[in-house]
Amino acid sequence: VSDPSPPSRGSRRFDPLPEWVGLATQLIHGGRRPERNAGAVVPPIYQTSTFHFPGPFSESADERRLYMYTRLENPTLEVADDLLRRLEGTESARVFGSGMGAIATTLLTFLRSGDEVVALDTLYGGSLDLLSGLLPRLGVRVRWVSAADAREPERAVRPSTKFVLIESPTNPLLQVTDLRRWSDAAHAVGALLAIDNTFATPVNQRPATFGVDLMLHSGTKYLGGHADLLAGAVAGREEHLAAIDETHAVLGSVLDPFAGFLLVRGLRTLALRVERQNTTGARLAARLAQHPRVESVHYPGLGGPEQEAIAARQMRGRGGMVSIAVRGGSSAAHAVLRRLQLVHVAGSLGGVESLVSVPSETSHRHLSAEQRAERGIVDGLLRFSFGIEEPADLERDLVAALDGLARAPTTPPL
Ligand SMILES: Cc1ncc(COP(=O)(O)O)c(C=O)c1O
Repeated sequence: VSDPSPPSRGSRRFDPLPEWVGLATQLIHGGRRPERNAGAVVPPIYQTSTFHFPGPFSESADERRLYMYTRLENPTLEVADDLLRRLEGTESARVFGSGMGAIATTLLTFLRSGDEVVALDTLYGGSLDLLSGLLPRLGVRVRWVSAADAREPERAVRPSTKFVLIESPTNPLLQVTDLRRWSDAAHAVGALLAIDNTFATPVNQRPATFGVDLMLHSGTKYLGGHADLLAGAVAGREEHLAAIDETHAVLGSVLDPFAGFLLVRGLRTLALRVERQNTTGARLAARLAQHPRVESVHYPGLGGPEQEAIAARQMRGRGGMVSIAVRGGSSAAHAVLRRLQLVHVAGSLGGVESLVSVPSETSHRHLSAEQRAERGIVDGLLRFSFGIEEPADLERDLVAALDGLARAPTTPPL
């Protein structure tokens, strides 16, 4: 007897919601089917690797309702899929074991030996590694696009291009790129366009509205929101997600059901958290720009009128990520880090707690000093991920740390 092909994920229905409900409501009430879960208000954790399989699959009257094996499908993970589909406003979505799992599985689904990818050279470091290491080994060619060249997607994309991967806002300088222009340019040559939407979150930016085909996420960040899990996601049209499922099944970057439950719990409050982070981010970006020890502030839209126009067109909120260049370089930046009491030094972002990192020593340490300078990633740059603490407390902590710098110069006077 040959193995039956599994039912495609996302094929089962949840209780419908009225068409008129907004995003925050959908996040609270999406992914529910209490009549199949003992009436539980909270969708339970199906912490099982496998499922009873009664009789030959093809003879089952209800075959679309059978679960077989958690690497292929699991009811807890489908709840997260449903919330993500709603968030991105797409037909379908799938969760993964990590953001890199989602990104690698997606690229390996659509790329073949000889294909050309166009990718921004400001992508997340793991994506850069994938595109400069594993994929070229498999015969994929990559054409890199700088932040400056990203202003003209029509020139960046060529008839030979099969797949385009962008990020907006970028890490750590929070520059935005025109999603509508990228999707027009990619589609004009028949290429698929994917975006890493981790920094913006779908609360602030829904790329599908501008024609982007695939939305990729590190769910480890804002979607989970509590720095207690690793997860990834892809959202898009069902035809693309069905193709991704096949790669997903063999690569196996599967989210554990317990982490899936935590992700769903995080997603319920995403809209609320991001709203707060937007307010805090905007407030602190403005406050930091006034501080004499701050050389420059990076925040979506702050890079001039063109950046502001793009951000205003495609972002509903500007987010909680803010980077600053501290006057005095690396030693001054480290003095600020030592003085901060509430904002902790750590990699990652998007949680309820505020974190700060030094991009030249973490996410961009693999670049040479020259490459970093070319990209504007100076040694005194600090990248903040603001959480949901009292905005006034964060402001006080930051201003005190920077003021302390003014009082105690890092190089003692002669
Ligand atoms: C923008 C972005 N994309 C993707 C990733 C990778 O996600 P993960 O760490 O969940 O694999 C990260 C992680 O830092 C990220 O910041």
